[in-house]
Amino acid sequence: MKVLITAGPTREPIDPVRYLTNRSSGKMGYTLAGAFAHEGHSVLLISGPTHLDVPANVDFIPVETAADMHDAVSKHIGRMEIAVFAAAVADYTPICVEPQKIKKSGDTLTLQLTRTADILGSARHAFGFTGTLVGFAAETENLESNARDKLIRKHCDLVVANDVSQPGIGFDSDHNQVLLVYPAHTHPLHLASKHELSMQLVEHITHLARTKRPFHLP
Ligand code: PMT
Repeated sequence: MKVLITAGPTREPIDPVRYLTNRSSGKMGYTLAGAFAHEGHSVLLISGPTHLDVPANVDFIPVETAADMHDAVSKHIGRMEIAVFAAAVADYTPICVEPQKIKKSGDTLTLQLTRTADILGSARHAFGFTGTLVGFAAETENLESNARDKLIRKHCDLVVANDVSQPGIGFDSDHNQVLLVYPAHTHPLHLASKHELSMQLVEHITHLARTKRPFHLP
């Protein structure tokens, strides 16, 4: 199957030397891309800046900002059968990027931010994607109910929910523990390495893709 995966953080520039970002290492998305490719799927990985090597047999588009990632996804998602959004995309970006390095002046500095486009939330309506849509949910409270809310609002087939307040899992860790939140039930997976977990996710997601009906807008 043809699979698109987003991974890593985005970087939102403030001035020529500074940016806003987050703690995503890209490990979850890259191990997933590698696991899909290992099973013979055709994989396109769209990733923000990371220090990771691109897995073997994976096509790769590097991006920097949320807007870049949005453009790359909108261009390629139409020919995909599965799309998995593991990236930690900035929800806000500076309204304007200063052309010169911002000088120290007063004791405080206020940055004005504006919302970025919701890439996962654009998949069904704006991009017209009818394939298997898998989001992630990074939560620090009410894991299952917040993930289920995202599943419904963004018309996903599955949301992979991780509690990013727990030490040793989630952001920048080699391990993760997730809940698979489906429309009609929730399936917990055990704590495992991201490598092991990715192999399990490939099984769950490909099973879903083979058995579900194409999505049609209500
Ligand atoms: O990269 P690692 O260090 O391995 O860490 C893995 C991870 C914690 C980043 C990963 O497991 C994870 O949870 N990824 C989603 C992080 C996130 O931003 O979650 P969210 O709940 O804020 O967003 C919900 C979903 O919408 C996600 O699928 C996200 O990719 C997507 N999104 C969010 C904002 C936006 N503007 N566009 C999006 O597509």
